[in-house]
Amino acid sequence: MNQDELKQAAAFAALEEIRTFAPGAVIGVGTGSTVNYFIDALAASGIAIRGAVSSSEASAQRLATHGILLVSLDEIGDGLLPVYIDGADEIDPGFSMIKGGGGALTREKIVAAAASRFICICDASKKVAALGRFPLPVEVIPMARVQVGREIVRLTGGVPRWREGFVTDNGNHILDVSGLIINDPCALESDLNQIAGAVTNGLFARRGADVLLVATASGVERSERPG
Ligand code: 5RP
Repeated sequence: MNQDELKQAAAFAALEEIRTFAPGAVIGVGTGSTVNYFIDALAASGIAIRGAVSSSEASAQRLATHGILLVSLDEIGDGLLPVYIDGADEIDPGFSMIKGGGGALTREKIVAAAASRFICICDASKKVAALGRFPLPVEVIPMARVQVGREIVRLTGGVPRWREGFVTDNGNHILDVSGLIINDPCALESDLNQIAGAVTNGLFARRGADVLLVATASGVERSERPG
């Protein structure tokens, strides 16, 4: 199976999570190629949901194309989504992740924070022993880009690179930080959050995944966050 087929298999497996945990509910939907497979599979499945809160304009457009009702977070009755389905760029054994390869990290973090269950769908290449080989995306206010970059170098020793020509759904810029040694993902996530002008960073450690559906050549493995 190639990587796209694996992504599709993981996405398909997430349908069972919707059937079990969120029938008739509003669900959270992430962003990326794996999620695109999920949106298409959900639409084809006939599973009845009330609607979806989207983490990006791209996913919103795809959901709308399938006739799935778009719901804003403000409209969620008790403030909680039963599930949030999203991919990852890397996921470690404690289910901390690097996300934001597609640049949707801020809204992804917001929707994930409103969900009681984060279900990560990915192919096996995303599983790593330690985070940091994938450059860590940091969304920055445009006027602060250079200053935030300098502060990241000072704090972490990493090398920030401007994702030139890319503007987030929030009108901001992205720095992709390579060369990081991430021993404590929660601490680094918090430290980067303190930089003035940094909107969000792509570490999802303080709120990691609860369930992992990882597609391998021999099938989709389901596991729950250890501990
Ligand atoms: C987008 C993300 C995606 O979840 C991540 O980049 C994985 O993408 P893909 O499913 O295309 O491999 O965080 O901001």
